[in-house]
Amino acid sequence: MEDGQQKEKVKPLGFLKPSSMMTVSSRFKTHQDSLPRLPVPPLQQTLDHYLKALQPIVSEEEWAQTKQLVEEFQTAGGVGERLQKGLERRARKMENWLSDWWLKTAYLQYRQPVVIYSSPGLVLPRQDFVDRQGQLRFAAKLIEGVLDFKARIDHETLPVEYLGGKPLCMNQYYQILSSCRVPGPKQDSVTNFSKTKKPPMHITVVHNYQFFELDVYHSDGTPLTSDQIFTQLEKIWNSSLQTNKEPVGILTSNHRNSWAKAYSTLIKDKVNRESVHSIQKSIFTVCLDAPMPWVSEDVRRSQVAGQMLHGGGSKLNSGNRWFDKTLQFIVAEDGSCGLVYEHAAAEGPPIITLVDHVIEFTKKPELVRSPMVPLPMPKKLRFNITPEIKSDIEKAKQNLSMAGRGCPVSAPHPPPPTPSMIQDLDITMLMFHHFGKDFPKSEKLSPDSFIQMALQLAYYRIYGQACATYESASLRMFHLGRTDTIRSASMDSLTFVKAMDNPDVTEHQKVGLLRKAVQAHRAYTEQLPFLQAIRGEAFDRHLLGLKLQAIEDLVSMPDIFMDTSYAIAMHFNLSTSQVPAKTDCVMFFGPVVPDGYGVCYNPMEAHINFSVSAYNSCAETNAVRLAHYLEKALLDMRALLQSHPQAKL
Ligand code: COA
Repeated sequence: MEDGQQKEKVKPLGFLKPSSMMTVSSRFKTHQDSLPRLPVPPLQQTLDHYLKALQPIVSEEEWAQTKQLVEEFQTAGGVGERLQKGLERRARKMENWLSDWWLKTAYLQYRQPVVIYSSPGLVLPRQDFVDRQGQLRFAAKLIEGVLDFKARIDHETLPVEYLGGKPLCMNQYYQILSSCRVPGPKQDSVTNFSKTKKPPMHITVVHNYQFFELDVYHSDGTPLTSDQIFTQLEKIWNSSLQTNKEPVGILTSNHRNSWAKAYSTLIKDKVNRESVHSIQKSIFTVCLDAPMPWVSEDVRRSQVAGQMLHGGGSKLNSGNRWFDKTLQFIVAEDGSCGLVYEHAAAEGPPIITLVDHVIEFTKKPELVRSPMVPLPMPKKLRFNITPEIKSDIEKAKQNLSMAGRGCPVSAPHPPPPTPSMIQDLDITMLMFHHFGKDFPKSEKLSPDSFIQMALQLAYYRIYGQACATYESASLRMFHLGRTDTIRSASMDSLTFVKAMDNPDVTEHQKVGLLRKAVQAHRAYTEQLPFLQAIRGEAFDRHLLGLKLQAIEDLVSMPDIFMDTSYAIAMHFNLSTSQVPAKTDCVMFFGPVVPDGYGVCYNPMEAHINFSVSAYNSCAETNAVRLAHYLEKALLDMRALLQSHPQAKL
């Protein structure tokens, strides 16, 4: 396959058969049913790839020990074979052997707060309004744009997307609206209301911590126009001017076990239960935020990123959210706009497609003013705050935005305060303007692989070693596919980054090593005949499957999963993701380990937007430093290639 064929393309869903011959819903079903099922890779292949991936990140002794464990695991008739057979049986019975397991282990059983630790955020290009009128006009247009996109979902006329020349599963588009996560004591759930008998006709609007149910359709099913929505938003605004309300939404920012407990208290009250249900059922949420405190332009981007990820704290906008809601748009009075989304339902790409649509929609001029029809006052969602609920709110505030103590205060020397979640987040944006996808393409290199190698170089220059690196690879070529892992740290990448600053290696050799490292990464992603993550051949989800199969079969945990190398391999100091968009924006998320980084990027044709996050509580990590090294790595790699044009293959 030529690399040039690998870009995402779209074809209308109707390509399967002439649309007149089929009902809309049968077209979608036919497309979904035509997708291949996710394969279970051969056991030997996965174990070989696993051993290979360990080489750059574990010591020789650890590797030798793991090799022995792997050999024991795969002996004929041994535990590996038994688990593999179990997985293959599961794959024969299920639509997708992985997706339910993945949903549970990656999201629903994860007990850390969704805020920072799981839900990605996005900053939209800054809007030019600076007052309430502008804020509400933009919010109204944005709502109209989302409803326009929703019509495509409802009528199943969304174009099918393509990757690597193959059509992709479109199911995630049907999960992002009218959905909400619901806390549970050991495991959460996600409820989608779009296929219920009475699908929602309203959105949730929140202003000054007060929630409203806003009907966005007339009784004949036509959506409200942006003028009409604007009038309704003004009503909401005017009836929520008090700023002393309890920030009940902040409960959703807490650890999942604490929130699950508080949730059962909250919904004991009928009024509260109905209000919560209305939020959960709504199509999406719009948060009309108060302006954030003034900061200089150079830290403003990071501040707005924080506003999207966590709301800025209990005194600012964190109570102006329902973090369990799958999709929340944020529009602030000072022109800052963006979104935060709860990750269980979908990956970034469907969210970005929606955003691209909405942003284009908001640019369309309003040609005719729509007739003003009398519309009822949007319903205010009331909460009865008992002392118990108030105490839960205080605890959630404390956890999110107030510093706590590291250990009991009775210790001989008072320990330094531990940072709150918000204080702990270190996030920065790098708008890299020197080149975009255009440069690696001109060198016949995959831009994604080139960027990943720059990250490897940046990390190595700071730490003098490689680390377990996660890059999401789409599995949407398969029915109900989510993601697997591209392991960007390879022996080829390590050889290249070590050589880059070694004066004994010639420039010519460095060029060769750079190209080899980029190609090895590309091969891991997609190229035949190597490992191909997007074609279901990567090893990470397969290993996870074998582990979960062991738990399900009640066999004792195989040694390969109790091994130091396995722990190192799963400790992703670099957790990265490409989320391409047409809009000039970038997603961001928190690191997945305390001493790690979260890196997301949107490679545009002539520039690349990056976000880098870390935790302040870790003395060894620093988001600005990694961003700085990343910028330098990209420039050095370009300079190297440009200085040796003869080395082009
Ligand atoms: N020479 C010239 N051009 C090349 C090339 C080469 N050797 N290799 C790739 N290109 C071109 C491609 O054709 C494409 O062109 P386009 O800009 O016209 O579309 C462009 O470079 C980008 O390709 P590349 O950088 O290689 O990335 P990709 O689009 O193949 O994406 C992944 C790679 C891993 C990001 C993608 O397969 C994937 O899995 N995406 C989903 C990730 C995800 O789910 N993230 C969200 C998690 S929340």
